[in-house]
Amino acid sequence: MRVGVLTGGGDCPGLNAVIRAIVRKGVQEYGYDFTGFRDGWRGPLDNDTVRLDIPAVRGILPRGGTILGSSRTNPLKERDGIRRIQENLAELEVEALIVIGGEDTLGVAARLSGEYAVPCVGVPKTIDNDLSATDYTFGFDTAVGIATEAIDRLHTTAESHMRVLVCEVMGRHAGWIALHSGLAGGANVILIPEQRFDVEQVCAWVTSRFRASYAPIVVVAEGAMPKDGDMVLKDQTLDSFGHVRLSGVGEWLAKEIEKRTGNEARTTVLGHVQRGGTPSAFDRWLATRFGLHAIDCVRDGDFGTMVALRGTDIVRVPLADATARLKTVDPKLYEEVGVFFG
Ligand code: F6P
Repeated sequence: MRVGVLTGGGDCPGLNAVIRAIVRKGVQEYGYDFTGFRDGWRGPLDNDTVRLDIPAVRGILPRGGTILGSSRTNPLKERDGIRRIQENLAELEVEALIVIGGEDTLGVAARLSGEYAVPCVGVPKTIDNDLSATDYTFGFDTAVGIATEAIDRLHTTAESHMRVLVCEVMGRHAGWIALHSGLAGGANVILIPEQRFDVEQVCAWVTSRFRASYAPIVVVAEGAMPKDGDMVLKDQTLDSFGHVRLSGVGEWLAKEIEKRTGNEARTTVLGHVQRGGTPSAFDRWLATRFGLHAIDCVRDGDFGTMVALRGTDIVRVPLADATARLKTVDPKLYEEVGVFFG
């Protein structure tokens, strides 16, 4: 049997660990052949392939990024996209496709397997940890570790200058990275996309922190938004998904804090540093287990499914359910963390 593998969407640490586990078990245990597709869905669309065998996956476990490349190409938006994929898979004699991706990439896999009988198995990945069907996605733990280290470093420079330091982390729709790194790094304010924030309240927390003779650290997710009255129309933009965003929320907030409290403020935008480099041990462990179970789904002919972590077990869930809803931060959890604000 020949199995295709692709990685789509934003890259994240652990992708190579999944690919390695799939190929190692697939070749050694089941005698499968593999075809790697380049750059997510663009590979099967354009018939762009890469050799994928045991030598190709040697030494890649600790490497960040993906040896297959990635893109946000969506075949459902391409002319004849579905037909081109079906024809290319048939020509290459690929009988199963393992799709490693986030909400968008897996959403395509769900439709291809549900409506067009393309045999797909999904593996969830995203640093955002916002897929509802799995307790954790790999990439998240690494991103939280990087953000936490950055916050630790910001504390010492903030205190030397008695400044406010705003740290903007990734998370357009879900505040998991902000919440976890903010808590682990001892931030004084954490702002997430799920709850609009009140700039006056943020300033009050900042001021009370200074009163206790400490310099405040504000962690803000890139998708966090101030309450309506605080944001003027010119500050708004539409992101690539058509959602209203305050682009550069970290910079915007630092300026507001300076203006309203009179304290000097600076912003650090962590950006793609959170997605790069070597995966944490947890992410290597989770990614490897996902890969081992994904190839078992192929062996069982269990298509239209996605592997997921539930507690310590890896389970199979329907791909369609997996992408139906985003996992966002529960207000009760956010409230719990709020005891450290100010
Ligand atoms: O979904 C992962 C993610 O890293 C988000 O947190 C972030 O908003 C987005 O991707 C950035 O995408 P790009 O790399 O395409 O700018």
